[in-house]
Amino acid sequence: MLDTDFYRGRRLRMTPGIRALVRESEIRPADLVMPYFVAETDDEGFRKPIASMPGQFQFSLKELEKQVAAAVANGLGSVLLFGLPKVKDEKASQAYSDEGIVQEAVRHLKDRFPELVVITDVCLCEYTANGHCGMVGKCGEIQNDPTLDLLAKTALSHVRAGADMVAPSDMMDGRILAIRETLDDAGFTSTPIMSYAVKYASAFYGPFRDAADSTPKFGDRHSHQMDPANWREALREAEADLDEGADILMVKPGLPYLDVLRQLRDRFDTPIATYNVSGEYSMVKAAAQNGWIDEQRTVMEMMTCFKRAGADIVITYFAEDVLGWLNK
Ligand code: PBG
Repeated sequence: MLDTDFYRGRRLRMTPGIRALVRESEIRPADLVMPYFVAETDDEGFRKPIASMPGQFQFSLKELEKQVAAAVANGLGSVLLFGLPKVKDEKASQAYSDEGIVQEAVRHLKDRFPELVVITDVCLCEYTANGHCGMVGKCGEIQNDPTLDLLAKTALSHVRAGADMVAPSDMMDGRILAIRETLDDAGFTSTPIMSYAVKYASAFYGPFRDAADSTPKFGDRHSHQMDPANWREALREAEADLDEGADILMVKPGLPYLDVLRQLRDRFDTPIATYNVSGEYSMVKAAAQNGWIDEQRTVMEMMTCFKRAGADIVITYFAEDVLGWLNK
């Protein structure tokens, strides 16, 4: 099996072994974070397929445990949890209740899989009756400052339950500082924050909002999420979050924003995560189901490209599949 390729301007004989020796980027099992949706329900066997995300489910605690057990046996090291509460209200009270579904899920998983890195998404949109990420004012505007307190309470309740890291995804200004101070005051000085620092107002979140039942009832998220046209703004957002105490920066979505990821990689020496979001997942799934693309090759190419662009961490709904393919 010989073929040739260019390397440093010279044509080399490329055996598979030599190609592996000179390969620059590779996805490792330890790079992957698998997101899960956990629902507050009395039905222990609850496992509801998400129509717009084939292969993904909303789980009861018990079903989540089963799913995670299989993934951990395959080498999964990290999960990112999203909660679906029974009750949503104006104040998003289930987001920061110590008995909330995410808090329960964290305790449940850490109890059974102490080595597993459990990360929680910190946002209010799954918990507010109107589906917004923050408190809403009289004119329908998202109120930045009144939201910070609730986000900090949410993060603290997750960490108290045993979360290894919190990931604020709300995009309110000043939330990293608010969360950092609250965690520090409570003695959790070494619990890291992975900031969704660079989060665009993206149509690629469509399937997620079905999955998490978090579509805003009115308005949109343009007041706090970023304009897809901007990359310099991304650097300012990243810098602000680092100043406030973020430990890991995230760029989201993944594929359409690889240039932004690269800009951050070149500029900052902190770890960087990318979120290969729901819409990116569903597009590949839909095309693969139609026989239009090779799913495994497409997904592995995506993973390699995230690494090449500079990601340390890849959050993806394909994580379980990728582990399976890497193990083969
Ligand atoms: C907000 C949040 C969203 C996603 C992760 N956290 C949705 C949004 O901002 O509307 C999207 C993830 C995805 O599309 O996979 N809590």
